[in-house]
Amino acid sequence: MTSRPDLATKQAAIALACRAPSVHNSQPWQWRTTEHTIQLLADPSRRLGQVDPDGRDLVISCGTALHHLRIALAAAGWASWVHRLPDPRHPGHIASVDMAPMTPSDEDVKLAAAITRRRSERRLLSGWSVSTPFLDRLATAAQENGGMLADASEPGVRSHLLDAAVEAAARQNGSPAYRAELIEWSGRGRLADDGVPAGNVPAGPAANRALRAFPAAEVVEGDPAVDADDADQLLVLATTSDDVRSQLLAGESLSAVLLTGTAMGLATCPITQPLEVETTRRMVRDELLGGCWIPQVLIRVGWLPASLDPLPETPRRRLDQVLSRWPAEAAR
Ligand SMILES: Cc1cc2nc3c(=O)[nH]c(=O)nc-3n(C[C@H](O)[C@H](O)[C@H](O)COP(=O)(O)O)c2cc1C
Repeated sequence: MTSRPDLATKQAAIALACRAPSVHNSQPWQWRTTEHTIQLLADPSRRLGQVDPDGRDLVISCGTALHHLRIALAAAGWASWVHRLPDPRHPGHIASVDMAPMTPSDEDVKLAAAITRRRSERRLLSGWSVSTPFLDRLATAAQENGGMLADASEPGVRSHLLDAAVEAAARQNGSPAYRAELIEWSGRGRLADDGVPAGNVPAGPAANRALRAFPAAEVVEGDPAVDADDADQLLVLATTSDDVRSQLLAGESLSAVLLTGTAMGLATCPITQPLEVETTRRMVRDELLGGCWIPQVLIRVGWLPASLDPLPETPRRRLDQVLSRWPAEAAR
């Protein structure tokens, strides 16, 4: 084995990294390979002007892709070292990743296998709650990647969080520009390589008021008012600061929580709508996190009823649309 992965290995790892979740499935990233490294760059042309004017969700999305990349490399036998935000003159240069051979652990392989099985699950979940040992493993996954996971299951806390979500949704839905952007990114059709497909969104009332109401929705399921079994739980992923580096770590932690959850058989969904509006974001920070943690993403977790098939995969852009070589790395 050489001391660096060949181009095909890097390409395979990047292809898996692109399965990472992103806001509205916007996939706001570009990759470059050099002989010794993989470079991750933000793609500002894919920032969502209405839901994400500050680019927070864009950076979090890049963070999920970065963590997916590291897991894919690890499972292929490559340890990675990440230099985050390596060039202060180019804040869009998210990470430079160097690699060296190693033996993958069972955990690396399990998490990598979870990459293609993970879905953002918005359907009604079963009545089984997620017990403490599972929540503890998710919290550890977040912590190991620079985030903090707070459990918002306690009824008073959950009700506060849902109130914030309802208020944020009402504010955003009141904006014609927000609605136009959501329509643009929702239900783009079978040939689209981005956006949220109608086939991944329940058509009936939302199972959980924190879930964003995408206009194109065609998954048929029961009525949450009648099928009151849903025992989903909401977690808040937070960081100590709110600079770009913290947002990046939030994305990496989000990926770690989602893949760890998927590997344990949990259904998961990231949710940021309640945090996209300044007032409700402050509400979550001050009333639920004691004012000292910065909420970055909510995560819905629960168990999918055994009778349900997995949702289809959401689309991704082709590798040649997001990857180039720097400077024209020769195929080895
Ligand atoms: C930063 C971020 C924010 C997101 N916000 C929401 C949200 O508010 N509501 C929601 O239903 N899904 C949300 N998602 C999930 C994306 O819509 C989902 O990842 C994307 O459509 C791709 O689908 P997949 O996760 O099933 O691969 C978010 C994902 C990320 C990474």
